[in-house]
Amino acid sequence: MEEERKTVSVGIKPLLRVLAREHEPVPPVWMMRQAGRYLPEYRAVREKAGGFLDLCFNPELAAEVTLQPVRRFGFDAAILFSDILVVPLALGRKVEFTAGEGPRLEPLADAAALTSLHETIDGKVLAPIYETVARVKSQLDTKTALIGFCGAPWTVATYMVAGEATPDQAPARLFAYRDPENFARLIDLLVQGSIEYLVGQLKAGAEVVQIFDTWAGVLGPQQFEHWCIEPTQKIVAGVREQVSGAKIIGFPRGASAMALPYVQLTGVDGIGLDWTYPRGIARDVLQPRATVQGNVDPLALLAGGGALDREVDDVMKELGDGPLIFNLGHGILPATPIAHVDCILRQLDATPSYELILPASLAEAFVGWLTHAAAPYGYEVLAPA
Ligand code: CP3
Repeated sequence: MEEERKTVSVGIKPLLRVLAREHEPVPPVWMMRQAGRYLPEYRAVREKAGGFLDLCFNPELAAEVTLQPVRRFGFDAAILFSDILVVPLALGRKVEFTAGEGPRLEPLADAAALTSLHETIDGKVLAPIYETVARVKSQLDTKTALIGFCGAPWTVATYMVAGEATPDQAPARLFAYRDPENFARLIDLLVQGSIEYLVGQLKAGAEVVQIFDTWAGVLGPQQFEHWCIEPTQKIVAGVREQVSGAKIIGFPRGASAMALPYVQLTGVDGIGLDWTYPRGIARDVLQPRATVQGNVDPLALLAGGGALDREVDDVMKELGDGPLIFNLGHGILPATPIAHVDCILRQLDATPSYELILPASLAEAFVGWLTHAAAPYGYEVLAPA
């Protein structure tokens, strides 16, 4: 008698697949700052939460805003809702966000101010964030990956030294020129804190982590090696010492010609590119070495229409034949129309799935075996149908 047949969906989350350097005909897509003010449902929760940091430290509400864009758009990844400046907070600095003005910290004017920092990050401060990660993970479907993140030491240091966002990061650059030894102490403290923070997120359920180096582009080549590449390399190695095979994306915004040494020296699995990076060069030089993430201009997304169509087509034409995570070159702007995000997704089409038809008696054993075999690589197997 012929055995009953059962359909088993087998797959690895598309984001994890491309970070393992596989090519997907339709790339996984998510967008930096995908949770934020352009979404009415975000603005509603944000109002309920009180301050921005109150939202970051409220696991229930932070999990909700993390999931909002995934629910609305079906992105391939959720990115933890938090901020890069929670690390200085956990090192004992005062951090505030005032509406419309961005972050305010007590400036770290000189070496003496460094002594006021904790030696290590305070795990109690960050515990609610790990809880957010666990909550989000428990609510994600089998195709959507969870990304955790931190700010790169250089970028976090620019805010700590100046106490606020500055146009050219002059205060931190001056500190680094005038007193490189003490600046290195600050960077090292942030390296250690970032390792601990990322490991905490990975242990709580994050499957990928991204290191945001938003202000990498203001550094000259030697400074870039010293304050961007070296600390990032230490974070990548330090995280993988505790979580072997951890998947890591670096985003050295404005890296330009330093993107190649960044990929070669840091050991990241993926590199996020801003929209100024030439896509043909990314294809020839970076994609053979790392998965590329990016790089639509957020202003093209805001503008929509033909400009957006051409950007999306160009990313796919130049980068679509190699390992690619479709994203923007920086965060979504608050004035972005939601319909423009839908346009991108329509243009990219639906994600394909892979199916194996097996005899029912084999199906269960096969899924069990694959789950076991894939686990050490951080892969998850989709549940049998
Ligand atoms: O959706 C996501 O991408 C996850 C959440 C996220 C936020 N900030 C939420 C946020 C992430 C990954 C960040 C990273 C972050 N924070 C960076 C690196 C990436 C980048 O955008 O360059 C930096 C430099 C910061 C520091 C920061 N946070 C600034 C300078 C500001 C003020 C500017 C602004 O956009 O308002 C923030 C505030 C912030 N972080 C908001 C959000 C949604 C807006 C606050 C609000 O809702 O009022």
